[in-house]
Amino acid sequence: MTGENIQVCLAARPTGLPKSSDWEIRRTAIPEAGADQFVAEVLYVSLDPAMRGWMNDAKSYIEPVEIGAVMRAGGIARVRESNLAEFSVGDHVFCFTGVQQFVVSDGKGVQKVDASVAPLPTYLGALGMTGLTAYFGLLDVAEVKPEDTVVISGAAGAVGSVAGQIARIQGCRTVGIAGGQEKCAYLVDELGLDAAIDYKADNLRESLREHCPKGIDVFFDNVGGETLNTVLPLMRMHGRIAICGAISQYNNTGPVVGPSNYLSLLVSRARMEGFVVFDYQKQFPQAFKAMGGWLAEGKLKSKEQIEEGIDQFPSVLLKLFEGGNFGKLILKNTAAF
Ligand SMILES: NC(=O)c1ccc[n+]([C@@H]2O[C@H](COP(=O)([O-])OP(=O)(O)OC[C@H]3O[C@@H](n4cnc5c(N)ncnc54)[C@H](OP(=O)(O)O)[C@@H]3O)[C@@H](O)[C@H]2O)c1
Repeated sequence: MTGENIQVCLAARPTGLPKSSDWEIRRTAIPEAGADQFVAEVLYVSLDPAMRGWMNDAKSYIEPVEIGAVMRAGGIARVRESNLAEFSVGDHVFCFTGVQQFVVSDGKGVQKVDASVAPLPTYLGALGMTGLTAYFGLLDVAEVKPEDTVVISGAAGAVGSVAGQIARIQGCRTVGIAGGQEKCAYLVDELGLDAAIDYKADNLRESLREHCPKGIDVFFDNVGGETLNTVLPLMRMHGRIAICGAISQYNNTGPVVGPSNYLSLLVSRARMEGFVVFDYQKQFPQAFKAMGGWLAEGKLKSKEQIEEGIDQFPSVLLKLFEGGNFGKLILKNTAAF
């Protein structure tokens, strides 16, 4: 195959918010498929807050991205050349594509996706890791029940917007926390949440007391820091907090802001538990079926924000940390269309 493969590689480990000098845009030849490999053209790349953690040389649930390596990313790709019996030219797949235009794969951990069932970007949104994170965090970790009052931070984001809808589908009183009036109006008017709190304009503690008069049974936390600390004293007896993420802390240059109100867990006999979606791999098919059903019935909406150009990755990534995304943030490899 002739042509070039634009790759976004990690050039330096950032301090605070990643800057343009932390990246190198490399142009290489399109790779050839070796024996037992396929080459696929990347169509859509998933942008995730977790990427910030993968750039650090620190112990985590996954190895850091090496300096000089293509930035790790999940994505949707179309097979262009295949020496593997299970994958044919034209197949659409989800895998760790990296932030680049072409990926070589041995097929391990690769999942086929069906463009006739849902639009391809939805496999990075509600029908992808995003949706699965919301599903297992709420139903397995937080064990939501219909009578629960559920609060979700980062509620207009990728995971949060699905989590809010799943809580609503379960019959819970559901309150979202998000930045800005537009996002809050969307949560109530379009996604059917009972209330939404604009943490940038409202007093979070007072608003939570107003919208959760009986207290909070389940807190699905994407934000951490002061938000988590404010919620803790409002937890009801035997409440559950699912620690999905803590985006307010990912670019800290000082120590992580922790929950000084943690003794509220003791008072309310509540628990707080972190989780990583990859641990639920064996149960993905069951979750996928449920999510697909809700989407087909119109009970669940998948919102994606699609930005263009693989080489635009360094600036588009920052949208996640500035509230510049609405729903799932995706980068489209425009050269493939
Ligand atoms: N545990 C897992 O397996 C797993 C898997 C996937 C994702 N996650 C975590 O889930 C969380 C959400 O990820 P996502 O992909 O759905 O991202 P996202 O919510 O679509 O995007 C990030 C959003 O976070 C909000 N935000 C950014 N900085 C903030 C701050 N300082 N304070 C409060 N809000 C802030 C912004 O929304 P506003 O405009 O509302 O501020 C922004 O739009 C992240 O913490 C991520 O690490 C965990």
